[in-house]
Amino acid sequence: MNITWSKYVQGTKTLYYTRKLRFDDIFSDQYKKLFELNENKPLKILEIGCGPGALAGALHRWYPNAEITGIDRDSEFIRFAKEHEPGITFTEGDATSLPFDNNTFDVTISNTVAEHIEPSKFYSEQLRVLKPAGICLVLSSRRGININPSCITFNEFEQQFWNKAAQHDDSTDRFSVCKYPMSESEMPVSMAKHGFSNISTGFATIDLTPDNPKYPTSLALDMINANRYTALDGIESVLCTMPEHFTTQEVEEMSRLTNIKYDTRIEQRKSGEKQWDTNVSIIMVLRGIK
Ligand SMILES: C[S@@+](CC[C@H](N)C(=O)[O-])C[C@H]1O[C@@H](n2cnc3c(N)ncnc32)[C@H](O)[C@@H]1O
Repeated sequence: MNITWSKYVQGTKTLYYTRKLRFDDIFSDQYKKLFELNENKPLKILEIGCGPGALAGALHRWYPNAEITGIDRDSEFIRFAKEHEPGITFTEGDATSLPFDNNTFDVTISNTVAEHIEPSKFYSEQLRVLKPAGICLVLSSRRGININPSCITFNEFEQQFWNKAAQHDDSTDRFSVCKYPMSESEMPVSMAKHGFSNISTGFATIDLTPDNPKYPTSLALDMINANRYTALDGIESVLCTMPEHFTTQEVEEMSRLTNIKYDTRIEQRKSGEKQWDTNVSIIMVLRGIK
C-alpha cells in the first residue's frame, strides 16, 4: 500500500476535480486536434501516472472505441479511480517498471508526470510497451494566469498560517516532486534522445473563468468548488507534512474560514455579481512516434 502522493503531495480531491475541469468536454476539440489519434480504431491506450483518473475518464468519453488502462503507484488514487470512472482498467504499479508485455499499446499518455520521473526510465518503459509506430503523448502544465476573487483574500490569521507552512514545508524535496523539470524546448529534445521520432508540440488553452457567460452555471460552480477542494486539501495536508508545527484547531479554523469564502463566491456567481476571477492554464502536448 503506497499512499505517499495522495497523503503528502496532492490530495485526491484536488487532483480529481481540477483535472475534471482541465479535461472537460468543452476542451475536447483542442486536445483531439493535438493528439491526432484515429478515433475509429479500437486503440489500446495506457495512461501513465493516472492519479484519481480524470484524464482516463475523458479519454473513455472522447474515444469510445478505445480500451483504456490507467496505472499509478498511489493506492488511494487507484481505489478512487475505480470507484469514480467506470469502463476503464486501473492498476497499481510503477511507471519505471510497467507490468505489461512489450508491444502492447497503441498509445501512451501522461499528464504532469514526466517532471517527476527520471527521463530515461520514463521514456524507455513507454517505448517498450508501445507497439511499433505507437504514439507517445506527454502533457504538461506550463505557465498560466491565476486571479482570485476579492472574497478569497487572506486575513491575518490565514496569512500567518501560510507563512508558517512555507517556512517549514520540505515535502517537495522529501518526495522528489518535480525533480526533473524541463522547458518547452527541452522536452522534445529529451523525447528524441530517448528514442522517439516525428516529434511535434502543441498547446491547449484552458480558460476557467466562472463569470464567462459561455460557461453554464453548473460548470462555473464546479470551477469555484475545485478551488475550494484544492484550498481545503492544502490546509489539511499540513497535519501530515508538518504535524509538529500545526494543531488540529488551527486547521479546523482555517477550513471553516475557507468554506465561508467559497460559499460567498458561489452566492455571487448564482446572483450574477461578477468578479472576473480567472484561472487559465496552458497545457503543452508533446507527441512522438515509436
Ligand atoms: C502531478 S500528479 C498527476 C496525476 C494525474 N496525471 C493527474 O493529472 O491528475 C503525478 C502522478 O504521478 C504519479 N507517479 C509519480 N511517480 C510515479 C511512478 N514512478 N510510477 C507511477 N506513478 C507515479 C503520482 O502518484 C501522481 O499520481
